[in-house]
Amino acid sequence: MSSAAPPRPASFSAPGRLRGTVAVPGDKSISHRALMLGALAVGETVIEGLLEGEDVIATARAMRAMGATVERDAAGAWHVHGVGVGGLLQPQTALDMGNSGTSTRLLMGVVASHPITATFTGDASLSRRPMARVIEPLGRMGAEFFATPGGDGGDRLPLMLRGLCPAVPIEYRLPVASAQVKSAVLLAGLNTPGITRVIEPVATRDHSERMLRGFGADLTVETAGDGARIISLRGEADLQARHIVVPGDPSSAAFPVVAALLVPGSDVTVTNVGINPTRAGLFDVLRMMGADIALLNEREVGGEPVADLRVRHSALRGIEVPPEIAPSMIDEFPILFVAAALAEGRTVTRGLDELRVKESDRLAVMARGLARCGARVSEAADGLVIEGSGGAALAGDETRPTVAAELDHRIAMSFAVAGLASRDGVRIDDMAPVATSFPGFTAMMTALGAVAA
Ligand code: S3P
Repeated sequence: MSSAAPPRPASFSAPGRLRGTVAVPGDKSISHRALMLGALAVGETVIEGLLEGEDVIATARAMRAMGATVERDAAGAWHVHGVGVGGLLQPQTALDMGNSGTSTRLLMGVVASHPITATFTGDASLSRRPMARVIEPLGRMGAEFFATPGGDGGDRLPLMLRGLCPAVPIEYRLPVASAQVKSAVLLAGLNTPGITRVIEPVATRDHSERMLRGFGADLTVETAGDGARIISLRGEADLQARHIVVPGDPSSAAFPVVAALLVPGSDVTVTNVGINPTRAGLFDVLRMMGADIALLNEREVGGEPVADLRVRHSALRGIEVPPEIAPSMIDEFPILFVAAALAEGRTVTRGLDELRVKESDRLAVMARGLARCGARVSEAADGLVIEGSGGAALAGDETRPTVAAELDHRIAMSFAVAGLASRDGVRIDDMAPVATSFPGFTAMMTALGAVAA
């Protein structure tokens, strides 16, 4: 796990343009869900393109600990022999979730309606993140949560969870736009009699809905008069094993895409990128800023829309980012802030309180790091305001400034890209967390022409 790994500092710079065609690893959200639903289905699920990052491996380990067989074959496909909904076994040791909020919150949903008890632990970053948002609805369904020694006694890990079977079906209106909370309730609903219903006032990523249907669950989505999505799942479901092809992760593609936009003379193609509208907000916002991003070869892979992205260096303009677009790019704000730092004029972002409870406080950590790199940035309660350089390379007071990634993979990769667009490069104190979501990141960037040392 990244918490235990020794820090791996690295400096990034770009002496010239970035060129080439690359593919990013599989989508993290879809990979987690494929392992979980495969473990709850009957029969053998085969997953191609699974993200082999630490977060997803934590999910695989947890599903094994609860009785599923999860194996990788020599060709790189993953085979999951599920136990059937309701068939999970009591894990014999604590489930170590590493850095992964998605593993934690979704698996809490899975465990909540099984007659088992599980303890969830995580690294320093994960142990600071709020769990009340899942404790509350899962508690209404009958699950019980207990603080464990070493925890803070509140809603932080480590936590012990005792599931209830049969659990109580609920209708739950999401108080916060969170696909993790939505998914936790739906996954708990799988082994619950009757209809479990989630109402989401603002649409969040819909991979759970798509994949639950794909596995044969009886799930419907309606739109209410006020535009809210009403998702209804019939419980005590029989899930059937299936073959899944995981598309490339748009949240990972974001880094080479923005790097190509910022480094003069660049022309980069990223193949096989998921462009599900609930995930692709960054590409829309970059286009609003003047980015040259062409979607080529649009197609469907495993029930998800996919395209190749051809990206050429572009002069970006600052904009006011519409707050309603935030859920479709919630993980992409750190790299958008880097793009904004190189744009002409002011970029204003608001409505981003959720960024404070990600792997780090992404508003504070990005504001601090960008300032070190020489960007003009001010931090508001719920967003950043950035005065761009108009394309001029970033230059702070120090030669090659060092920024702290705070155990946050996306912060580390964002500052690697900032380094490519800076006068003397940027040093990141620890690139180790990148392994949670994007193994091979540094190799890919250097293949395109970046220098990492
Ligand atoms: C995810 C949902 C988002 C996102 C996370 C992955 C998911 O979290 O930030 O990286 O796979 O459901 P929230 O639900 O907290 O917004």
